[in-house]
Amino acid sequence: MRTIFLIVPVLTSLISSCSAQVQRMPALMPVPAHMEARTGELLIDPSFSVAITGHKDARLQRAVELFLDHLRRQTGITAVDLRITDSSKAALTISCENASKDIPELGEDESYKLDVSSSGAKLNASTTLGVMRGLQTFLQLVHTGPSGFVVPAVSIDDKPRFAWRGLLVDVGRHYIPIEVLKRNLDGMAAVKLNVFHWHISDYQGFRIESKKFPKLQEMGSDGLFYTQDEVRDFIAYARDRGIRIVPEFDMPGHSTSWFVGYPELASGPGPYQIERTWGVLNPAMDPTKEYTYKFLDGFIGEMAKLFPDRFFHIGGDEVNGKEWDANPKIQEFKRAHGMKDNADLQAYFNKRVEQIVSKHGKTMVGWDEILHPDLPKSAVIQSWRGQESLAQAAKQGLRGLLSSGYYLDLMWPTSRHYAVDPMSDAAANLSPEEQKAVLGGEACMWGEYVVGENIDSRIWPRAAAIAERLWSPQEVRDVNSMYQRMEEISQKLDWLGLTHNSGYVPMLRRIVGNVDPSALKALVDVVEPVKEYNREDLASTPPTSTMPLNRLIDAARPESLPARHFSELVDALVAGNLKPGMEPQLRAVLEKWRENHTDLQPFFEQSFLIKEVDSLSQNLSALGAAGLAALEYLDRGEPAPAAWVSQQLSAIDQIKKPQAQVLLVVAPSVQKLIEASAGQTAALPAK
Ligand code: ACM
Repeated sequence: MRTIFLIVPVLTSLISSCSAQVQRMPALMPVPAHMEARTGELLIDPSFSVAITGHKDARLQRAVELFLDHLRRQTGITAVDLRITDSSKAALTISCENASKDIPELGEDESYKLDVSSSGAKLNASTTLGVMRGLQTFLQLVHTGPSGFVVPAVSIDDKPRFAWRGLLVDVGRHYIPIEVLKRNLDGMAAVKLNVFHWHISDYQGFRIESKKFPKLQEMGSDGLFYTQDEVRDFIAYARDRGIRIVPEFDMPGHSTSWFVGYPELASGPGPYQIERTWGVLNPAMDPTKEYTYKFLDGFIGEMAKLFPDRFFHIGGDEVNGKEWDANPKIQEFKRAHGMKDNADLQAYFNKRVEQIVSKHGKTMVGWDEILHPDLPKSAVIQSWRGQESLAQAAKQGLRGLLSSGYYLDLMWPTSRHYAVDPMSDAAANLSPEEQKAVLGGEACMWGEYVVGENIDSRIWPRAAAIAERLWSPQEVRDVNSMYQRMEEISQKLDWLGLTHNSGYVPMLRRIVGNVDPSALKALVDVVEPVKEYNREDLASTPPTSTMPLNRLIDAARPESLPARHFSELVDALVAGNLKPGMEPQLRAVLEKWRENHTDLQPFFEQSFLIKEVDSLSQNLSALGAAGLAALEYLDRGEPAPAAWVSQQLSAIDQIKKPQAQVLLVVAPSVQKLIEASAGQTAALPAK
């Protein structure tokens, strides 16, 4: 995966350029395509009402009721106030020209215009979908002012850059309760994501009820699956938020859970059990048996009726071919059909499956591996490998989606995801016509290390930045502005019931043994889980799906924002740009760290979950002490002795290594302080 690093902010965000001239502009994420700040503000008080003019329908009515519900939560104004009215004096007048499609479709008009002045607000859109997007912008604009809740006067004319802006949630590895998925739909709607990609089956679980083939869920899910009623309700919930649901049934690999009940589908002799370990495993469907296609015709037919969306994802990734190679009948089939390798065999399988998918009225989507000259032009390629696959697909006349660079499970900092653009790298060289084939992208929440309790903290707030990449103009890429706005939006997402913030302290309290977790929090605030797939590499025994996710690594946030703030202070110091008050702040943080191990020590004997934290905690204290010593040298304007510097730097090299499968991510900033104290490049301002 190649990533573009944008070092220089190309465009100061519209928001920060506006806020200097007028009153405070609350964070918007994604940044609208066009926005002009005006003077004045609209008061949101209990008399606030909304009028719907123009087109009216039940979905629009529900969208406005949902908006009012969120406004009540955000402001605390009671449920009896805030209402829909016919009055021409309504504070917010919505004018919608047409209904959206009954079943949300790719490429529907999502544009809207929002004008707010001190006397009222007008939201105009050509479809219900545009109204939904505009109402979310309005909610983001509401903030607490000195005289009440207010929305700043503004004129916004907005539309998305890409039509497909998705979030994949893998419920195969771990079952995620439906109410957790629902609150994530609310989060998606808040940042204008419009496709929920439901990765619903994998080696470790088959998570949906099939009435035709009930042994799929009965034997392949440990009893953890969604009933068809739940699925219908979930689809309706998503539709009311302007979100399409695309199901993925991964085949012919990633499919052991199917074989527990239906071993005849598999290429190996069986019997099969639900997998408990992770990785690319051997079981795969038998592409040579007619039984397989008969089964898939029945199954896909059933699911095609349940899921109304036009698109149907068949996975197609990571078939290692081992079961195919070990099966003499499959080898004979390949010879008889002149297939030179397993890729040819999989292409044959894909072609047969595509015929089934299309017979049931759907358009097939699959991962990079399904790209083959024989694939029909209607298919969509979702790339986990990079923009090169999208470019190849586009040149072949196929549409594509980017997910490479958007894997939330890799624990990357938000800035790294934010820098990835579907139109960069190989895709940048496509002709304008070919570029139209790039539909957008999807953030991916793979499920090896998430359960209902911590999944929100892996998705949010980072997915909001990916949502911005897919909605906002390509020039919107100022990283500092993104972080500022993301932190504000993250707080707003709390009102939707998402637990990315609220779940943190309870998880820490459990680790320390149900006592005040402040000392543990001071430590965990500045650690991050190891990156990429290092969790597997560092485990003493292979992790499994039955392992509790209650450790430090599961509670730690993917990106430590306190560490980011600390590094900003250190960078300001090293650059000689410390503002008044910053040095005491830096010193206070370092002192807290230095003392923290002493504060945390009493708990090490009390809880088995905290034992692994011991040396990590000592390391944080060592960093605090080293940073303070470096500050002393800087304060005195005296270069730190070379021997001390080299001893500290080698200690920091050790501290940078993972402990308890987490990284103490402030170590590089303390290293900068030590280096600065050696070089005396940055004397502190005179006191
Ligand atoms: C994938 O990451 N194998 C889609």
